[in-house]
Amino acid sequence: MNEARKKLIAGNWKMNGNRELLDVFAQQLNVPENVDVLLCVPAPYLALASNAKFKVGAQDCSAHEKGAHTGDVSVAMLQDMSVGYVILGHSERRQDHSECNDTVAAKVAQVMHSNITPILCVGEPLEVREAGDVFSYVQAQIDAVLSACDETFFDKVVIAYEPIWAIGTGKTATPEQAQEVHHFIRSYLVQKSPLAQKMRILYGGSMNASNAEKLLAQADIDGGLIGGASLKVDDFNIICQAAS
Ligand code: PGA
Repeated sequence: MNEARKKLIAGNWKMNGNRELLDVFAQQLNVPENVDVLLCVPAPYLALASNAKFKVGAQDCSAHEKGAHTGDVSVAMLQDMSVGYVILGHSERRQDHSECNDTVAAKVAQVMHSNITPILCVGEPLEVREAGDVFSYVQAQIDAVLSACDETFFDKVVIAYEPIWAIGTGKTATPEQAQEVHHFIRSYLVQKSPLAQKMRILYGGSMNASNAEKLLAQADIDGGLIGGASLKVDDFNIICQAAS
């Protein structure tokens, strides 16, 4: 485990939760001192979620600065609500909203010079894994973003490796499978900048109260992006504890 990289446990509520659940988390979440804990809530709850206990993140933002983009939320608006993080390029956005690598890159570039930390999601579908092409697929996702950003990328971005076949399916990558890709991502980025040694690379995909400890013990796994298990405070507390 690398002591220089503080673990980050990020809940991704997706389009779930409500005011009541937010209150439950505000009251019952236990945040270990040596772990950063973040909840990425749906946009309408961002202002309500502001809390001294945990950090608050959004699940997407616009690639545009402002203007005629009905329904979209800008980086400046997130900053106005003191949002600290934003998930970008989640596979569900790539799929449901046809976000391609270039769109994701434009979004990351938009966030880059704000005080918000982008969490860039990458990860392969099952057929890519079965064809043995995981590294080149993930590399292409990262390259698109790198080409839209300057050196700040290495200082600022958190990467989340989320194999699509493991998201919401109950099929977790084994700790070894996850570590293999995390190690690839880090080595690839370190070749470009030594700053990448300090970047946090999260694992996401059916991380839960029972498998978190083994995943988080891997050398290049610096935290988790957690969907389903972030909706139950008891399970989420166990995962936060496993990171401490
Ligand atoms: P999951 O979702 O934990 O429910 O698999 C993870 C994610 O999509 O970020």
